[in-house]
Amino acid sequence: MDEPLEDLADRFSQIADQYDDKHGSKEKPIYNACATLVIEHADPRPDDVVLDLGTGTGLIALALAGDAGHVVGRDISDGMIEQARSKAADSGIENAEFGYGEFRNPQYDGDVDVVVSNFALHHLPDEKKREAIEAIADLGPHRFVLGDAMFFGSPDPEEPLFGHGVDAATVGMLVDVLTDVGFVVTAVERVHDQVGVLVAERVGGD
Ligand SMILES: C[S@@+](CC[C@H](N)C(=O)[O-])C[C@H]1O[C@@H](n2cnc3c(N)ncnc32)[C@H](O)[C@@H]1O
Repeated sequence: MDEPLEDLADRFSQIADQYDDKHGSKEKPIYNACATLVIEHADPRPDDVVLDLGTGTGLIALALAGDAGHVVGRDISDGMIEQARSKAADSGIENAEFGYGEFRNPQYDGDVDVVVSNFALHHLPDEKKREAIEAIADLGPHRFVLGDAMFFGSPDPEEPLFGHGVDAATVGMLVDVLTDVGFVVTAVERVHDQVGVLVAERVGGD
């Protein structure tokens, strides 16, 4: 699965105004558990810059804005970005900015302390996930928290948890790539046998 970015972005823009109703609800306990763990593990310092990739309607970015110095949300879907901007304005959050950016080219030139991403990397096939993680490492964060669909064992093909649009990697593959680019994986949270949160930190980072 390697859907053109424009098609994927359009698909998300079409559902952007209903996205939070579905994902913030009790209908999605696995998604919500994953999001909660990403927020907890991000744990930014008061002056940290947090970059949220595949930010969508800004769920993670806006939850971290109160603890961080500045949050930057990047996404490929204009409709989702608009939702995030409007939520920030409605909540009076002034240290958050949202704009276009892709995993492999987030279009942010400033220093980044913490990178987070929740339920978005699975849209890339494995080779592009590797390129995305390399691009994230190049930004120089001291921590990267990844919540996503990921296989802890061998998934039963008769019981897929997710359908169209999800290209989950194995936990082993993700840990290997994170390690290859210089992170140490300091926590592995299994939310479900097809969903988890990985915390990767810089060796010798402060
Ligand atoms: C399932 S939503 C998750 C949104 C948000 N992180 C959350 O937890 O609610 C996936 C998001 O990833 C974005 N996305 C997909 N591929 C992307 C890419 N290559 N670069 C940046 N964002 C991407 C989509 O536009 C969508 O907003």
